[in-house]
Amino acid sequence: MPTSQAAMPSPSAPAAGASAASLALPAGASLRGQVQVPGDKSISHRALLFGAIAEGETRIEGLLPAEDPLSTAACLRAMGVEVSPIRAGEPVLVRGVGLDGFQEPADILDCGNSGTTMRLMLGLLAGRQGRHFVLSGDASLRGRPMARVAKPLAQMGAQIHGRSGGNLAPLAVLGQQLQGANIATPVASAQVKSAILLAALTASGPTTVVEPAQSRDHSERMLRAFGADLVVGGHNNTTVTLTPGARLHGQQVVVPGDISSAAFWLVAGAITPGAELTVQNVGLNPSRTGVLDVLEQMGARIKVINQRDVAGEPVGDLQVSHGPLRAFSIDGEIIPRLVDEIPVLAVAACCAEGVSRIAGAAELRVKETDRLAVMARQLRAMGAQLEELADGMTINGGVQLHGAQLDSETDHRVAMSLAVASLVAKGNSSLARADAAAVSYPNFWQDLERLRA
Ligand code: S3P
Repeated sequence: MPTSQAAMPSPSAPAAGASAASLALPAGASLRGQVQVPGDKSISHRALLFGAIAEGETRIEGLLPAEDPLSTAACLRAMGVEVSPIRAGEPVLVRGVGLDGFQEPADILDCGNSGTTMRLMLGLLAGRQGRHFVLSGDASLRGRPMARVAKPLAQMGAQIHGRSGGNLAPLAVLGQQLQGANIATPVASAQVKSAILLAALTASGPTTVVEPAQSRDHSERMLRAFGADLVVGGHNNTTVTLTPGARLHGQQVVVPGDISSAAFWLVAGAITPGAELTVQNVGLNPSRTGVLDVLEQMGARIKVINQRDVAGEPVGDLQVSHGPLRAFSIDGEIIPRLVDEIPVLAVAACCAEGVSRIAGAAELRVKETDRLAVMARQLRAMGAQLEELADGMTINGGVQLHGAQLDSETDHRVAMSLAVASLVAKGNSSLARADAAAVSYPNFWQDLERLRA
């Protein structure tokens, strides 16, 4: 149990209960036990979206019951798709309306905080001829770049209009008959790639997307399982061609635990003296496992056990224990494979021997917050010695962090990364806007409380 300020929500309290006051983050405990992280966020969005445009029913086990997938489900319901209530531990049923079955919604589609919802939805809606859609979201999402999706879709004939020359939501989409296209994307982004592939499903000819490096490939795997005609090739699977015409059929989807959520426990276990943790049922898709490669480079004590394949995705359990860590250096093609784990890897760097370097990660500046600026600011408040760069940071490891008044600045991954940092600080910390964690990991604070008990 937390020892001070008593602001930690009880296991039964809603995560939002943490929002009113700062959450107490007592220093000094170790972590032990087993933890099952919630379902993969990327796979959860896709299971809902692909189920909606398939024919027949899709049954999803292990769907992430968090704010982001709830935003996707709410948008789908607003267009006439039946999605059963999303409750932890219960399967979710989606009654597909087919590739062109969405009704024109009577109001704006609210994507909340979720970039994946907005970007994939833009791809899906661009080809819904004669129908008009408006997409918006919270203040963070309304500040995030959408031209990266709107521009390639315009090459296919899409009509998308928004603020700032079409870059910012609210965005209006007037559905069109789209044409196939050859599109080279300037950034490796699974959201951009997936939006193009979804638009390609009803285009008049084949579409090819070429990325500068491979981003996560959940869309390719799952679209193929639903029946889409899709070929992946090129250098390191960076080229995807989708030929329209195939019908999609409802599937049974089993969502593995999210490696991006597991990453908080992996780093916490590696840096906290005496820690021994097992994270169960974690998705190990190679396009997502960059964090394991980096932790290995650091000399972390991590073992992958019970490796298996579940519904087309590799899965395993991860055992981690505390030990000495070396600095790491990342840049280039590995970045898309760990893009969401960089905030918590920055925390690991603070506890490693030597200078760690993160480069080629300018994408972090356009996530839910500017994660380079926010992590630099918050870790400096704890005494970290680091330099923020345009596309990354360098971090001098081995400097003792101290407790501080921290702030998630509304970003879920920042909230959880700072909670991990607070475990090894000298003195207690507090965290403002801790409720942000509910975007991807509603029970994070309860799991933390249980593992430190
Ligand atoms: C996601 C892709 C990544 C990631 C985001 C989820 C997805 O974004 O950061 O959390 O589900 O496709 P980008 O595609 O912009 O890199």
